[in-house]
Amino acid sequence: MLSRRRFLHATALAGSAAAADLSLTPWLRAQSPDATATARIYVDPERKLAAIAPTLFGSFLEHLGRAIYDGIYEPGSKLSDASGFRTDVMDEIRRLGVPIIRYPGGNFVSGYNWLDGVGPKQNRPKVLDKAWNTIDSNQFGTDDFMAWCKAVGTLPLMGLNLGTGTPEQAAALVEYCNVEKGTEWSELRRKNGVAEPYNVKHWCLGNEMDGPWQIGHMTAEEYGLKAADAARQMRMVDPSPSLKLVACGSSGPGMPTYLEWDRQVLDQCYNYVDGLSLHRYLGNDEETGGSSAKYVAMNLSLEQQIVQTAAVCDVVQAEKRSKKQLHLSFDEWNVWYRARGPKFDNGQRTEAPHLLEEIYNLEDALLVGGILNSLMRHAARVRIACLAQLVNVIAPIMTNDSGLFIQTIGYPYGWAIQYGRGDVLDLLVQAPAYEAEGLGAVPYIDAGATRNPQDGSLGMFVLNRDLNKPREIEVVWEGSAPGKAIATQVLTGDDLKASNSFEQPKKVAPQSFPSPAAAPSGRTRFEVPARSYTVIQWAG
Ligand code: AHR
Repeated sequence: MLSRRRFLHATALAGSAAAADLSLTPWLRAQSPDATATARIYVDPERKLAAIAPTLFGSFLEHLGRAIYDGIYEPGSKLSDASGFRTDVMDEIRRLGVPIIRYPGGNFVSGYNWLDGVGPKQNRPKVLDKAWNTIDSNQFGTDDFMAWCKAVGTLPLMGLNLGTGTPEQAAALVEYCNVEKGTEWSELRRKNGVAEPYNVKHWCLGNEMDGPWQIGHMTAEEYGLKAADAARQMRMVDPSPSLKLVACGSSGPGMPTYLEWDRQVLDQCYNYVDGLSLHRYLGNDEETGGSSAKYVAMNLSLEQQIVQTAAVCDVVQAEKRSKKQLHLSFDEWNVWYRARGPKFDNGQRTEAPHLLEEIYNLEDALLVGGILNSLMRHAARVRIACLAQLVNVIAPIMTNDSGLFIQTIGYPYGWAIQYGRGDVLDLLVQAPAYEAEGLGAVPYIDAGATRNPQDGSLGMFVLNRDLNKPREIEVVWEGSAPGKAIATQVLTGDDLKASNSFEQPKKVAPQSFPSPAAAPSGRTRFEVPARSYTVIQWAG
């Protein structure tokens, strides 16, 4: 099987949409020609783009490496409860407030038999997972995940095996999870000790089926037909309108079939699904030529991916004369490039191997901040998104036997969940720009803002891409200015390559940021440091 990394190399990214010039895109329309000028952010609380779906800042846990075993589930550890769940990890995920978590894969799901993971633990088979060449003990499965989700207060986003699995097996899992009683699979759940159905709403119809690395990889037409069949059977089992089904879109703009895959898949299954998935991993590697200035602007390329994928959905909608508009599920996104490739993705037939344990630095966190701004700007269309992943595997939370630490990327992610609530505002940002190869003119300042209608509070997220200088910001309040700043934090530092570790868990950590003074003139001025991501919350 071709690894994803080698496949993307082989298909050469040059000339792909990932490298397209973005200077004509609408969200970059207002650049200031003066390179030293103050950046202006015009905010009108009445100018709303969309209400943020509570599932926009989700995450992902795969049976991969130490994400599940040693990550969230470690029976026998002094840090675990009676169910074997790591309580320190649960506390951290509760503190973050992660709203939805995709499970059990990823590539893993395409060879997974969900029946191996339910029932008495002593009867569950140890199996070879052929996606990561890892032994899976199946000691953690569907019922364990549901119990864990309940304990941490998050929703499940369940992945289905449409690789080796059949539509019938996918529908059987829906029956196991969502039917109360009286059918073969609902009775099996009850026999396994769970009387009440889980009523899982969100389902992914397979994973990255466009990728030659995927177990069961097939053509777009074959997959589209299989997804349609699975969706029809699933809806027969659970006809409730709250069942939301996501078809697999392209696994990234580097794919030779990018967008054409999406179009052909939707041609077959548009009428049966609610959303289409996107995936994207970015790195300061070949794509950026190692340029940090370009790297921290790559969220704009991801944003273009959203626009292009939505356009394909809309073309198919129009062709089918459908009244239904699909949402997008950006159910895997992150930085991932160091712990990647054959040295890192082969479990050598061991249990819970150290795989994909990427260590994140400051510049990664700045880009993640930019991506979160991008997701907010497209909240009208992107209703689910998952930081991939959550624990140990390309993750903000890293564990060992005695505890955990938070990686740099965990801070902007946590701020988005905490402060990015309510409606996303349609900002006008006028900022000086710089040239980044392949991206065109990139504004130094990237901003997002949300307003919570419940209490009128306003959250603003500001990425300063200037790696050398602080930048002056003037917020122009159009309409009423908010109250005083009630929370302010900044992530910055001298060294873009600095990262956290068990030895130095707070090397890169949020610092306090001076509260901007109240604005009698309808304007608020503040300065953001070089290389920074800042969050400010104003009272309503
Ligand atoms: O998140 C790691 C892997 O990246 C997932 O298993 C797969 O879907 C993607 O290629």
